Amino acid sequence: MSFVRRSSRMNDSQRGAWNRHAADYIVDVPAGELSTSLAEGAAVDWAEEFGREAELIVEIGSGAGDSLVPMAAGRPDANVVAFEVFEPAVASTLGRLGRDGVTNVRLVVADGAQALGQLFDDATVGELWTFFADPWHKARHHKRRLVSRSFGDVVAAKLRPAGLWRLATDWEDYALWMREQLDDHPALENVHGGWSPRLAERPVTKYEARGIAQGRQVFDLTYRRRP
Ligand SMILES: C[S@@+](CC[C@H](N)C(=O)[O-])C[C@H]1O[C@@H](n2cnc3c(N)ncnc32)[C@H](O)[C@@H]1O
Repeated sequence: MSFVRRSSRMNDSQRGAWNRHAADYIVDVPAGELSTSLAEGAAVDWAEEFGREAELIVEIGSGAGDSLVPMAAGRPDANVVAFEVFEPAVASTLGRLGRDGVTNVRLVVADGAQALGQLFDDATVGELWTFFADPWHKARHHKRRLVSRSFGDVVAAKLRPAGLWRLATDWEDYALWMREQLDDHPALENVHGGWSPRLAERPVTKYEARGIAQGRQVFDLTYRRRP
């Protein structure tokens, strides 16, 4: 049973949602030394967690679930695994999942970058979603950014052939950096040869709306795992 490590940061509605729904949606994975890292050797049998075999979709940095919940609801035939480190946001996601009766989602409170490499077999992920996931958009933080050439190697290994990595950001320099890191990756193909049209199923989240209100443009990218 999941417990809340920093419950004081949750408001009453988030705490209520956690108590009602955590057991249904949260997959407890043994933690490592940092509360958001995974213990060495931690593993998950996803088919068992979902009670079925299905196409796996992974989201890293699902926040309050503003894209996750409607997008998973629109893909009922897929098993959707979301990683988010901020527990109050996970609690809000639980509330939405419960309200909307969406059952094909599991949440893990852990660093999704490490988890992708550790908790999924190679060539088993159908899609990876990273939407506005990164707090490290500034150029001086490039070493801490989620998207990098080496993370591209991990994604390429985990995607099945023709599997898709969908990204979005509202920071132009970070978007350009993503292209620099990934466009010539030997195992990934930029599906649109440049920026992607906005993914129709991706709702405008509060983060995206804030970026737009502050005058920033949104950049979508899609990469496909080469066969
Ligand atoms: C700006 S919010 C965007 C949330 C959501 N994708 C949206 O568009 O509404 C970014 C979220 O990603 C989470 N995050 C960033 N890196 C992460 C990682 N490596 N693993 C899990 N969560 C991460 C942060 O905690 C934060 O809640």
